[in-house]
Amino acid sequence: MYQHYTSDDFYYMSSLRFARMPFFKGLVSCSSKKLKHIKNAIRSRFIPSQYYSIRIKYPTSKMSNLSNRKIAVVTGASQGIGYHVSRELAQHNYKVYACARHTEAIEKLAENFAEGVIIPCHLDISKVVEIKKFKEKLGLELPGQRLDLLFNNAGQSCTVPAIDVTDAMVEQCFQVNVFGHINMCAQLAEFLINAKGTITFTGSLAGIAAFPFGSIYGATKAAIHQYARVLHLEMRPFGVRVINTITGGVATDIAEKRPLPDHSYLNFKEGIEAFDRRREMAKRNHPTPVEEYAKQVVGDILSSRDPLDVYRGKLARLLTLVYTFLPYWLIEWGVEKKFRLHAAYKVLREKQH
Ligand SMILES: NC(=O)c1ccc[n+]([C@@H]2O[C@H](COP(=O)([O-])OP(=O)(O)OC[C@H]3O[C@@H](n4cnc5c(N)ncnc54)[C@H](OP(=O)(O)O)[C@@H]3O)[C@@H](O)[C@H]2O)c1
Repeated sequence: MYQHYTSDDFYYMSSLRFARMPFFKGLVSCSSKKLKHIKNAIRSRFIPSQYYSIRIKYPTSKMSNLSNRKIAVVTGASQGIGYHVSRELAQHNYKVYACARHTEAIEKLAENFAEGVIIPCHLDISKVVEIKKFKEKLGLELPGQRLDLLFNNAGQSCTVPAIDVTDAMVEQCFQVNVFGHINMCAQLAEFLINAKGTITFTGSLAGIAAFPFGSIYGATKAAIHQYARVLHLEMRPFGVRVINTITGGVATDIAEKRPLPDHSYLNFKEGIEAFDRRREMAKRNHPTPVEEYAKQVVGDILSSRDPLDVYRGKLARLLTLVYTFLPYWLIEWGVEKKFRLHAAYKVLREKQH
């Protein structure tokens, strides 16, 4: 059975709690309050999945008036944080230019909203030529040349022992995580200034904490934290807010997929085990669900506060405090224990003698 629900069927605002109309015609008839329970029942396979397929069409009546919407650009919108933030923004009266190199998932997401609410855009932020072309497109399309939000989020991991890293790895990671965002800000600044808009960055705990094999990724994030800090200062006269979200663990697919390089000095059993444990760090630490994280960061954007750093995601605030106040020798001892590095370190010490 295939059901295509539109605004005529029910009234879907920012959460299912606001649904007003009966749902699951012919299958279940329910009041809006019960929607959540039905959703859970489906999730728990109480209703076998072959009996339903739901496409939620967001209401056109209240939310499709494009001229009333604020305008956002989100990078890294094809999955994970950027995808969910794009959806959340669209539900909160934003028109979203959702950018990534692969746009299939964004095109599907856009179908859930009225036409023109989410605009999938192919954009590789590591290529300045593409950013300039994107700017030209916005220049033609933005009413009054005004952009309300630039959500700098695209990112790539780079988990590799610090001395095993290759030129190509460093370059790729910095191109996306640092240069790409800097170029986006520089190119789109005039639109943001026109709107007295907001610039956000998806920073990371990795830019503050020393996670093993995270030197390059951590360096990119530390760099973007500092860029955000100075940008916050320099945008003040224009009334443009800059928010850096120091992000802890969030349940996405960002974990490193590449194995330990063949030439690595850690290429022995204990070393490989330590490396693999580190790659699974996020999964093992009960990361914050990405939907919840997206709601929080959109809440930060919608609020009128102008903080530099906000702390979102698993352990973001706690670990920042730990790194601020504890002596470094104690932190390193803790990290060695947490990631069970001692077995690998023992082998390395023995090899030296
Ligand atoms: N998840 C976490 O625990 C966590 C923690 C701290 C910080 N962060 C940061 O959060 C941001 C989002 O990560 P995520 O967890 O959502 O990871 P993700 O699911 O892997 O998403 C990364 C996004 O970045 C895009 N991207 C990668 N390279 C790009 C490029 N050259 N140009 C344009 N887009 C590119 C990807 O899209 P395409 O491949 O389609 O281009 C994808 O949409 C990243 O900056 C990451 O460093 C995440």
